[in-house]
Amino acid sequence: MKFGTRLLHTGVEIDPTTGAVSVPIYQVSTFDQISLDEPREYDYARSGNPTRTALEQAIAVLEGGSRGVAFGSGMAAISSVLSLFSQGDHLLVCEDVYGGTYRALTKLFVNFGIETTFVDTTNPENIKSAIRSNTKALYLETPSNPILKITDIKGAADIAREHNLVTIVDNTFMTPYLQRPLELGADIVVHSATKFLGGHSDVIAGLVVTKTPKLGNQVAFIQNCFGAILGPQDCWLLMRGLKTLKVRMDQHQKSALAIARWLKEQPQVDKVYYPGLEDHPDFELHKQQADGPGGIVSFAMKTDELAKQVLHGVKIPVLAVSLGAVESIISFPPKMSHAAMPPERRKELGIGDNLIRISVGLEEAEDLIADLNQAMNR
Ligand SMILES: Cc1ncc(COP(=O)(O)O)c(C=O)c1O
Repeated sequence: MKFGTRLLHTGVEIDPTTGAVSVPIYQVSTFDQISLDEPREYDYARSGNPTRTALEQAIAVLEGGSRGVAFGSGMAAISSVLSLFSQGDHLLVCEDVYGGTYRALTKLFVNFGIETTFVDTTNPENIKSAIRSNTKALYLETPSNPILKITDIKGAADIAREHNLVTIVDNTFMTPYLQRPLELGADIVVHSATKFLGGHSDVIAGLVVTKTPKLGNQVAFIQNCFGAILGPQDCWLLMRGLKTLKVRMDQHQKSALAIARWLKEQPQVDKVYYPGLEDHPDFELHKQQADGPGGIVSFAMKTDELAKQVLHGVKIPVLAVSLGAVESIISFPPKMSHAAMPPERRKELGIGDNLIRISVGLEEAEDLIADLNQAMNR
């Protein structure tokens, strides 16, 4: 079955009790037990809810994993995965990781004795040389946010496996339609499902998918301890969003490519970052490991003032934090997604005050280009 078909036929799309073709929202906190010694399949909705189970099974099928776990946000999913590690452990994390993950690692997990080294994972030698005797995991984002740098998932996961490290990939930008890290050797995939999976700017959610049942059980155990579950209504919204993932992603990336190509020709634009452009340094590598470049384009204007002019001058995209929605979202990474990163660090990574990130929505590409054009030439 091709992915677009599997999206609608995951095997869990029908409610097993009623046959409803949309799994109902089981708005319930607890479940009647048959007797003291005979609980039913579900006992308490922090530990499990049928609507959540359907979503968790669907994402596990789509990512090619053994278990899915649905959380109240992407950060809840990521923090729960990071809670697999303990005092004295060392983690290797890609240097331009999402700002919230950077904050959790440097301001929270460090207090529990978990140490992190941020490395440029686009060069496998950097990964090899940063591994220590206490290194336990390798955490990747590819394409990275917001510069869209590419890490070779298979190559990195091979190195990690040789050293018994768990490989974790944040697959938010790609979704399983475009990239399936577990098939490339990763052990855990995390998502801010708030983004393309939900797709409509109406739900905050996170998903984890593990390759092995053992890791899945460990993550589910942590979820049951912390309780950062996704509510049934939001699970339903995500399942609804997932059904149109393919058609949305196809359109997002078609328009994103048109916009990236147009941006490259504009004299006010200094640099365009998009893995669908042939001159992206890792165009070929990305093509090998993913089925498309996705819907996010970043670009650096020639001056900081020009960047502000564009951000304030566009009329169609919303100026907002977030990405991956039906409407285009324009953002300023230094003050938004990467505000939690110290300014010196941002500068080192090329996240300057002239950088703009656009999550290309489902509006007509010509309208978006005309809008960017008027904002640049005001
Ligand atoms: C790549 C990436 N990972 C994780 C997150 C965190 O997800 P959430 O906002 O759903 O907690 C985000 C949010 O922007 C993100 O862009």
